[in-house]
Amino acid sequence: MNHLVVPESSRRVSLVKPSAIRRMIELSAGMEDVIHLEQGEPDFVTPKHIIDAAVEAAKKGFTHYTEMDGTLELRQAIAEKVGRRNGLDADPRTEVTVTSGSQEAMLIAAFGFLNLGDEALILDPYYPAYFEDTLLAEAVPIPVLLSEKRDFGLDVEALENQITKRTKMIWMCNPSNPTGHVFSRQDLETIAEVAKQHDLIVFADEVYEEIVYDGIEHISIGSLPSMKERTITVNSFSKAYAMTGWRIGYIVAEKKLSASLRKMHYYATLCPNAISQKAAFAALNGPQDCVQEMVAEYDRRRRYMLSELDKVKGLPCATPKGAFYVFPDFSRFEKSDETLAQHLLKEARVATAPGSGFGKAGEGHLRISYSVSYERLKEGIERIKNALE
Ligand SMILES: Cc1ncc(COP(=O)(O)O)c(C=O)c1O
Repeated sequence: MNHLVVPESSRRVSLVKPSAIRRMIELSAGMEDVIHLEQGEPDFVTPKHIIDAAVEAAKKGFTHYTEMDGTLELRQAIAEKVGRRNGLDADPRTEVTVTSGSQEAMLIAAFGFLNLGDEALILDPYYPAYFEDTLLAEAVPIPVLLSEKRDFGLDVEALENQITKRTKMIWMCNPSNPTGHVFSRQDLETIAEVAKQHDLIVFADEVYEEIVYDGIEHISIGSLPSMKERTITVNSFSKAYAMTGWRIGYIVAEKKLSASLRKMHYYATLCPNAISQKAAFAALNGPQDCVQEMVAEYDRRRRYMLSELDKVKGLPCATPKGAFYVFPDFSRFEKSDETLAQHLLKEARVATAPGSGFGKAGEGHLRISYSVSYERLKEGIERIKNALE
């Protein structure tokens, strides 16, 4: 018997591809003096009062499994927050589930609601996990191209044209990664009407809700009339509180939807990290000026980026109203965003994320993250401009 024969992976694993961002990270590994503008990772350290709460919890021995759906204390704090901030009415006992980051929520939603051959609409450009998780569930991802002319807002016809008898779900990100678009009330109402008419589930990823600019209002689609019973609202502590490494997020969904998600959640994780739950509780209950300070700094960088990109001829860039990315269209310089990203990495030592990794509507674009220090950003944009010349 040959013990070196490695067993084949499952068919579903062979369906998914590694992320374009991972590829850039791998390509840049070992290269010196690279400015990393490809990652969606806040450069701030988690605020001190949050870290202190976690350290204290660990020292007191809060180091065991917790309730599988998260501690009731944290679920109550989340229910209170989503009621006040998002207009979502949620019972902390049955309608709030604490997850290991929002990434877990995507996988359990795909497995929890999609059957073989079901179709899931994805507002495109999209966060890549929606597409790959749909494939993992052996369902069919159907991109719905957003309108670049409307700063990547909704194209109603494009949405309606893709509905079939097999459509089960809509994946959306608001504010959007990668475009920074924040959906208007009118667009959300249109999506909600389509969902109700065709009996669809809406997966609403709101992890960037706190990071919005120019006084724009972020609206949760789950708060619109009759949307509670069909919306899976997902959020996270990663972006708002610079807590990516703590792996803590949550789902708010009506009782029956939550019951299905919780079944999957249990077998995936048993329970979320105990210490991170104490940190998350401190984040919600503590002072919020740390969030405002981080957002003000992102905004300063956003303005700088937009003004610098504006100086480059033939480089259209939608104005992002949320998140921490710009998504300019470089197709006049180079048709293939992959080629351009590799060129910038090699020649300018700047890592960016190729837009086609975020869907068809992202082709020809690069996602440039401004979640690095102002100085590094300045250096990065100078290098990009020189390389383009
Ligand atoms: C739109 C979006 N959703 C979800 C995630 C996953 O975040 P986490 O699992 O840390 O909550 C990310 C991470 O970059 C993201 O950009």
